[in-house]
Amino acid sequence: VKALAISLGMMAGSAMADDLMDRANSMFEPIPKYPPVIDGNELTQAKVELGKMLFFEPRLSSSHLISCNTCHNVGLGGDDELPTSIGHGWQKGPRNSPTVFNAVFNAAQFWDGRAADLAEQAKGPVQAGVEMSSTPDRVVSTLNSMPEYIERFEDAFPGQDNPVTFDNMVVAIEAYEATLITPEAPFDKYLRGDSAALNEKEKEGLALFMDRGCTACHSGMNVGGQNYYPFGLVAKPGAEILPAGDKGRFSVTETASDEYVFRASPLRNIELTAPYFHSGAVWSLEEAVAVMGTAQLGTELNDSEVKSIVAFLKTLTGNIPEVTYPVLPPSTADTPKPVD
Ligand code: HEM
Ligand code: HEM
Repeated sequence: VKALAISLGMMAGSAMADDLMDRANSMFEPIPKYPPVIDGNELTQAKVELGKMLFFEPRLSSSHLISCNTCHNVGLGGDDELPTSIGHGWQKGPRNSPTVFNAVFNAAQFWDGRAADLAEQAKGPVQAGVEMSSTPDRVVSTLNSMPEYIERFEDAFPGQDNPVTFDNMVVAIEAYEATLITPEAPFDKYLRGDSAALNEKEKEGLALFMDRGCTACHSGMNVGGQNYYPFGLVAKPGAEILPAGDKGRFSVTETASDEYVFRASPLRNIELTAPYFHSGAVWSLEEAVAVMGTAQLGTELNDSEVKSIVAFLKTLTGNIPEVTYPVLPPSTADTPKPVD
């Protein structure tokens, strides 16, 4: 009888575990092991390598100091670990830099969804006064001044008469960014059926994450990054976390109901990308989770619940790609000189 009781107990235990795994699989998807296919942008080796050089190319900025990697540092979780980014002339930008890791899987780009995809997105920072402060003309002159870039654009965009263009530059960067994915997180192994990939505390956190309703906004492959919601849906956080001046999606749509609406952040690799929120005002993941409880759900999560959820969130850290710094071609007499 005892043996039967034990085996029944084990069955109940594993049925419960499978139930959790099934529920998780109905809400989330593992990060694929290989880069995704992007419509209209075939990931050839020539294009990805060129995109990588451009991602690390500080001469795309007018100061010759700032590259994409300055604010999306691939050695630092794909962001800059600053509350809000510092750009051209040490200007402080208005928002926290999101990670480029897995950005290709976000349905919605930016905190407010201004850009439709990564290629459109990449046109912004090069020109933004507070970021790289350059112009498409200056960028094209810079690239055309270095024979190696001309050759590499020809290889990446075969058959085009004049491949060195601003548009092709962002297409190449998009191709490179598509390779910046982080598969094989413990949570991905769990979703693929390895129940031992999460410990009890992490499973408790996963269950809470689903039961408390975090998944209403953070689900899918990136555990967020799919849609927009009011930050402070139930209770507005204080002005230090939600500054009055940044109205989020309202600035894109000019619709009153979009005031303080932001993208539900993708939570992949979240332990690597403090500080948190678009304001970058919160340094601890525990505090960020507690703020979400009160602001979005109207729930005071207790300490133990917060700790379990954080334990779960840390299982979202995947294999970070090891990146070799590219060797960039030397400037020539024709390369525009840096300007302040
Ligand atoms: C947003 C890529 C340069 C700061 C983003 C996003 C991507 C990206 C893909 C959207 C991520 C997401 O929505 O999840 C690039 C590329 C760059 C570049 C390819 C070079 C061409 C920079 C630089 C800075 C910067 C130099 C800092 C000075 C930011 C910030 C955001 C952002 C603050 C969030 C903006 C907002 O939501 O309003 N970048 N970035 N980026 N990037 Fe960059
Ligand atoms: C941001 C976790 C529930 C919408 C965040 C961040 C975390 C988080 C850690 C910060 C990400 C970052 O800065 O990169 C959670 C947890 C939840 C929860 C653990 C459940 C307890 C929700 C719900 C909604 C929501 C229910 C929608 C109603 C958002 C939005 C942001 C965000 C819009 C971005 C806020 C901003 O503008 O900075 N979430 N979340 N979250 N979450 Fe949640």
